[in-house]
Amino acid sequence: MATNRTFTMLKPDSVEKGYTGAILEKINAAGFRIVAMKKTQMTVADAEEFYAVHNERPFFGELVSFMTRGPIVAVILEKENAVEDFRVLIGATNPADAAEGTIRKSYATSMGENAVHGSDSDENAAIEGAFHFSGREMF
Ligand code: RTP
Ligand code: MG
Repeated sequence: MATNRTFTMLKPDSVEKGYTGAILEKINAAGFRIVAMKKTQMTVADAEEFYAVHNERPFFGELVSFMTRGPIVAVILEKENAVEDFRVLIGATNPADAAEGTIRKSYATSMGENAVHGSDSDENAAIEGAFHFSGREMF
């Protein structure tokens, strides 16, 4: 089951700009099923833990401040080959390099403010989903 799931966040830039519905529609149209979803806001401690893998990187402070500046929409998604297919759907980290038709090409503004998160492995998808949701919130 876990191998068919991925985790995403519609980042604060997407929520601020009112792109939530349009992005969810693209996700649905691409064949992903919503397992769990909520609007929430990460604290600084949450974001530091969630992105701990990047804590030595020069952009870490900027990333934490961006991810905590407003609400996000956290979502667990299900589909065959979910992790890989979702990374294709969202496009490259830098929207300038993102392919036409991808979510980041359409909705991201910069490398930092890039609209959506997508898990990079099945293992991280499970960890990140469990970070935001309890088992009772997954359907
Ligand atoms: P994500 O984890 O959010 O899905 O993004 P990603 O895999 O495509 O990129 P990753 O390397 O994991 O970086 C995480 C997030 O950090 C911000 N970032 N800013 N200013 C910069 O050079 C820079 N590099 C990365 C982005 O918000 C990126 O999505
Ligand atoms: Mg990443």
